[in-house]
Amino acid sequence: MGSCKVPYSVLLLCFYVGSLLVPQCLSIGDDANQTAVLLVNASEALGRPIPETLFGIFFEEINHAGAGGLWAELVSNRGFEAGGPDIPSNIDPWSIIGDEDSSLTLSTDRSSCFEHNKVALRMEVLCDTEGTNICPAGGVGIYNPGFWGMNIEKGKKYKVVLYVRSSGAINVSVSLTGPNGLETLATHDIIASFCDVATWTKMEVVLEANASNPNSRLQLTTTIKGVIWFDQVSAMPMETYKGHGFRSELVDMLADLKPKFIRFPGGCFVEGEWLRNAFRWKATIGPWEERPGHFGDVWMYWTDDGLGYFEFLQLSEDLGALPVWVFNSGISHNDQVNTSNVMPFVQEALDGIEFARGYPNSTWGSIRAAMGHPEPFDLRHVALGNEDCGKKNYRGNYVKFYNAIKRAYPDIKIITNCNRFSQKLDHPADFYDYHVYTSAKDMFSLAHRFDHASRNGAKAFVSEYAVTRNNAGKGNLLAALAEAAFLIGIEQNSDIVSMACYAPLFVNDNDRRWSPDAIVFNSSQLYGTPSYWAQHFFRESSSATILHSTLQPNTSLVASAIMWNNTDDGTSYLRIKIVNFGNNTVNLKIRVDGLEPNSIQLSGSNKTELTSGNLMDENSFKEPKKVNPNQNPLENASKDMDVVLLPYSLTAFDLLKGSSNIRTARTDSFSRSSF
Ligand code: AHR
Repeated sequence: MGSCKVPYSVLLLCFYVGSLLVPQCLSIGDDANQTAVLLVNASEALGRPIPETLFGIFFEEINHAGAGGLWAELVSNRGFEAGGPDIPSNIDPWSIIGDEDSSLTLSTDRSSCFEHNKVALRMEVLCDTEGTNICPAGGVGIYNPGFWGMNIEKGKKYKVVLYVRSSGAINVSVSLTGPNGLETLATHDIIASFCDVATWTKMEVVLEANASNPNSRLQLTTTIKGVIWFDQVSAMPMETYKGHGFRSELVDMLADLKPKFIRFPGGCFVEGEWLRNAFRWKATIGPWEERPGHFGDVWMYWTDDGLGYFEFLQLSEDLGALPVWVFNSGISHNDQVNTSNVMPFVQEALDGIEFARGYPNSTWGSIRAAMGHPEPFDLRHVALGNEDCGKKNYRGNYVKFYNAIKRAYPDIKIITNCNRFSQKLDHPADFYDYHVYTSAKDMFSLAHRFDHASRNGAKAFVSEYAVTRNNAGKGNLLAALAEAAFLIGIEQNSDIVSMACYAPLFVNDNDRRWSPDAIVFNSSQLYGTPSYWAQHFFRESSSATILHSTLQPNTSLVASAIMWNNTDDGTSYLRIKIVNFGNNTVNLKIRVDGLEPNSIQLSGSNKTELTSGNLMDENSFKEPKKVNPNQNPLENASKDMDVVLLPYSLTAFDLLKGSSNIRTARTDSFSRSSF
């Protein structure tokens, strides 16, 4: 028989809610403070473990996120084939130095030594050091401005690699200069006899900058008459994240989110407008010089594919995040492969899995090993296609992929594009993609999206979510708060939502194809949008324990409580997160049940708020931290505490658990802090 006893927490709730009814009624429509109560049962036995991989990131090659962004390569269109394999090719943004009629002519031919990218640049120099047509003192040649300017920094070193051949001896200056070529930041002359460069020859130069300029360019110039061919010209900073070619400060922003997985490389980028332009992993591995590159026809730009499949796996490993590989399922936006013909695509996927985790002596694993990574990568998740469920051949194709992958790799988790909210799944899957781009108001209400969903079957992978539309601007506080409420709902429902990530992650401010985004950058600057900072509040959620909590009233508030462990120092915290999505200050009474007396440490507990003077406030290069989390010691940390929630805010209360012999110096508490 059930007990008739009313739990203490319920009594408390009734008492507080009852006593709050009158002021609440009075406060409707005016600016008076509102009151609310949050009851938390901190007993971990009654809580539920949150999946280890709940929160991660989604990298898509959109907005020049990778080429001209995360991938540190400074040269854009290093193989001169942005126009594809035919000639004349598109050499943009390479440009000429000198007078095109009198001092040099440029053309492309198909004489490269690289089989998969035959296009090379042919530069015929008409002027000379002597005679009637003297070259200008600075020489003539070509320059590459990179992706809207190269960020060259004083004292740093840059490795330039290029392939060259010539009709005679050469003396080519390889220089980093300011935007108009007048200021030289670093230079080195490549001098070679005809014998040395009669056939394609690789040259390597390390340049150390003697000054800084975020808008620099790479120049190849000469004053000697003759014909010189160039191909595969690369300039990389010597310092990259873990030496793996990633732009460090951008990866630092990712590492700071403590992502548990990375979904890559798209999005629509994976599909392509047409299959011929889709991302195909085999064309993105091996030596960079031999990668053909491709035109991403959804986001409309060329990528040299220096950031390829291997590099994505490497990045995942470097961040301690699990890779989630999305591959093309034989379907693009406009064309698709019939299920009867899809087996070559299935084989391509199987080969890709073998590349990631096969033995170093396997066919594809050996190529990974040759690239410097004999150990397998920890690939456990693959997603078949992107937003393709409604396409005619998706389900048929999916089943072929699913069966073949599960047969070869039974442990791999497979993600379907078919959202089981809209229709019952008619095929097997471990996870289903759930994408949501909507208004702030709607996103806030979606905090309860999964509350009443079926607890059986494939689990949700919220693989793209963001507040978009007019009221999102380029990423503002309003959007971030609504998203935080949605994430709190995901935490609460993490028994049926296993993974979630925001989209898109990056935007190079010079090529905004999609807004808002989490991280904005140009060649030398970067900042997180409020949506980025909101994600910081969830960094400790994966692997934590979600506790039972009750909020009254809950119209403009959404809250959750978790118990998380700081693995660095063994401390544990009760973290309460609350979004106040209303324009009133809320006086909140927090009552925590299920803790030992005196088990909350005053010193070491803290409060972190994300809010701003205006709901529409955004960050910018000028004010990169206008909207960002603000942390303070929590002076009244206790099991029973009255706190104030600012209008339109996200607040986290971290209550340090433990006995009083835990170090409590204020500096300690800050160093322990996760924000
Ligand atoms: O995140 C931007 C795009 O939105 C993704 O490429 C696509 O999956 C979605 O439609």
